[in-house]
Amino acid sequence: MVERLSPTVTVHSDPVSAAHALAERLVALAERARTRAGRFAVAVSGGTTPEPMFRALAAGAAGNRRWDDWHVFWADERAVPPTDPRSNVGAARRLWLAPAAVPPEHVHPIRADGALDAVAERYDAELRGFFGAAGGAATTTFDAVVLGVGPDGHTASLFPGAASLDETSRWVVGEAHPGAPPLVSRVTLTLPAIGRARTVLFLVCGAEKRAVVERIFADPRRGSRRAALPAARVTAQESVEWHLDQAAALPPTGGGRAAGVQTGPASRPARS
Ligand code: 6PG
Repeated sequence: MVERLSPTVTVHSDPVSAAHALAERLVALAERARTRAGRFAVAVSGGTTPEPMFRALAAGAAGNRRWDDWHVFWADERAVPPTDPRSNVGAARRLWLAPAAVPPEHVHPIRADGALDAVAERYDAELRGFFGAAGGAATTTFDAVVLGVGPDGHTASLFPGAASLDETSRWVVGEAHPGAPPLVSRVTLTLPAIGRARTVLFLVCGAEKRAVVERIFADPRRGSRRAALPAARVTAQESVEWHLDQAAALPPTGGGRAAGVQTGPASRPARS
């Protein structure tokens, strides 16, 4: 860790250190959930940033090789088979779940094999069944959701200007017009579903993310539905943590604090 700017923002020296730290955070949250509820439900994202995190989990991050109370879900998936290199499910299976021999009954993939809305409705129902929210009961969902951020400020498959950003009840929706590559249809958690998680952990690395990090942290409406960018609209029941590497966090001049990254109290969720 390079610098803990606040309880919710940590800057790590490089992408691998950031990813390993996030893997260790997941193990710590799993141990807390195990004590509280006897299970740990985590939703992970795709893209390239989480890959070293998956490898770290497979290698026994924080000494953990116990998976019998983990339940792995996805924040989003591309509408491709899991064998397709663009599949988020496929990437996590290849880098983590298979090497770590996570029991298949603890892995809950988005099966993107059919009409987009039907796939979304099916996963929505699976989540509500798992979290005991059938019938719309208000409930906490995931213990942790791991999210990335695209240079345009998207997170999961919630893209700027998308109708999905205004969703207030469904937990999973289809996105037929993603605003970033790969330009294939997606299925994504919505802000209400993410907002019911106890902890959201953003993992954002690379100089190409510096500008969007600055925009997010400069937004006075961060943590509310009125924030400008999708990633800035994310809330959680307990906390939203940002794990950045130096390249994403520091202004071009280097040194000092991330431009726009204020220290201060955890971003308290605006009740979604
Ligand atoms: C996806 C991801 C997406 C990702 C960002 C960042 O399915 O594409 O869930 O939201 O987190 O695009 O991707 P990188 O980590 O590759 O920069």
